[in-house]
Amino acid sequence: MSCAGAAAAPSLWRLRLVARRPLSACGGRVAARAHSSGMTLDNVNRAALDRIIRVDHAGEYGANRIYAGQMAVLGRTSVGPVIQKMWDQEKDHLKKFNELMVAFRVRPTVLMPFWNVVGFALGAGTALLGKEGAMACTVAVEESIAHHYNNQIRTLMEEDPEKYQELLQVIKKFRDEELEHHDLGLEHDAESAPAYVVLKSVIQAGCSAAIYLSERL
Ligand SMILES: [Fe+2]
Ligand SMILES: [Fe+2]
Repeated sequence: MSCAGAAAAPSLWRLRLVARRPLSACGGRVAARAHSSGMTLDNVNRAALDRIIRVDHAGEYGANRIYAGQMAVLGRTSVGPVIQKMWDQEKDHLKKFNELMVAFRVRPTVLMPFWNVVGFALGAGTALLGKEGAMACTVAVEESIAHHYNNQIRTLMEEDPEKYQELLQVIKKFRDEELEHHDLGLEHDAESAPAYVVLKSVIQAGCSAAIYLSERL
């Protein structure tokens, strides 16, 4: 395999290496990658992978902005450490999808500046309703994201569970952590937020629209 051909086949398990090294790099390690049975640039369903990585990157970015907004309002209150812990996990999620974007040459959605503002406004706005409002937002968003990740897991399982095994592990881990955030929200009185049912429905309608748009734009 030529140097260019080998460099175009990064497997998921070497993402950290790939993210730090130029894609044109060639050497022993690249040759080893060519023998991996995992995802490579050449053997994946590009359309599906582009969509999945782009929307997940946007979602994790939006989640980071929501928690930033919540911390701006509630950071010094009793729920500050709870929110900070969830935010720290979202930072790890975003870091992973940043690495995946570089490794698989997926562009971010053009809506990133919009999600920057909307995410922060949603987090801060619901936090201004009190800690229950912030937690209601968390429950709504995390439920939507977990549902979305479950849909992606189904898609990848139908596509090729062997080939996408490592990506499936990433998404399953993140899905489980989003569900933990959801449960933390309920434990911290989300359902006592003003107009909880309406608030949750409106936020989840927004999440569905955000997912639809970020997959396509
Ligand atoms: Fe996340
Ligand atoms: Fe989360």
